[in-house]
Amino acid sequence: MWNEVLARVGDRRRRHPILYLAGPADIDRDIAMQKGVLGQNLIAIDKYPANVEAIRRRGYPSIRGRIEDVLRAWPDDWPVSAVLLDYCSGLEPTVLVALEAMLFRRPFSGTEVVINLQRGRDASTNSHRARVGQVLLSRDKNPKHRGLIVAYSLMEMLCNLRLANGDLPDASTALRRVECLYRSLNWRTFEYRSETRQTYDSLVLTVPPEITATSAWSCVGPVKLRNEIRALRAVRTRRLNETPSMFALSQASR
Ligand SMILES: C[S@@+](CC[C@H](N)C(=O)[O-])C[C@H]1O[C@@H](n2cnc3c(N)ncnc32)[C@H](O)[C@@H]1O
Repeated sequence: MWNEVLARVGDRRRRHPILYLAGPADIDRDIAMQKGVLGQNLIAIDKYPANVEAIRRRGYPSIRGRIEDVLRAWPDDWPVSAVLLDYCSGLEPTVLVALEAMLFRRPFSGTEVVINLQRGRDASTNSHRARVGQVLLSRDKNPKHRGLIVAYSLMEMLCNLRLANGDLPDASTALRRVECLYRSLNWRTFEYRSETRQTYDSLVLTVPPEITATSAWSCVGPVKLRNEIRALRAVRTRRLNETPSMFALSQASR
């Protein structure tokens, strides 16, 4: 997945951070750094304090909180190049809340997003998935693929928003317009089965700038998180400025 994301992100990764769900072993950081991403440009997020503290002890940026809150609290003037959401669950409603927080905010304009979900462990969305699954079946698509369900749900979300805002006259016009945006999500799905026969579904997409450009949503997340992100930004900038030679060296040796 990193290869796909880094190819899409290109040079942006040098300027703008990548946010990701950390986990206890923080394997993604090691992979990304081996592929040339600066440690200070990888910002780990996790709801468990122990995971966050372990990363801080290694001198890397990390934030304790729920990802959907962090995305809502992210500063309006700090663009993000990619967000990797490797969940240890299925399609819970909070996954869609996290996506919504990115679709309508400027720092995520053009951001590459990866969502990794397990099939099962998501009884809370059974009826939603059953309904969207019917639509996918009618389009000859796998009705169980969590990534496809997420992509289609985003399209519905956009459609409803446009209608509610009175931007478009009726549902069929809205659907036609949103179908165009849906294609501009530039999405791709992946699927794999683990040795324990668990199926993992992934979706990679680009947040379309044409949505964020017309959106007025600004930073609204919890104040405590906003302050924490501001402090982290200051420390990260200082570290990047103080030790340029160290980073240059680590890059040169890759
Ligand atoms: C599967 S692990 C990520 C593993 C990681 N990709 C790695 O390379 O090691 C998922 C992590 O995300 C955290 N997590 C799950 N949902 C979250 C949420 N909504 N907000 C913040 N953290 C969350 C979990 O606590 C867990 O540590």
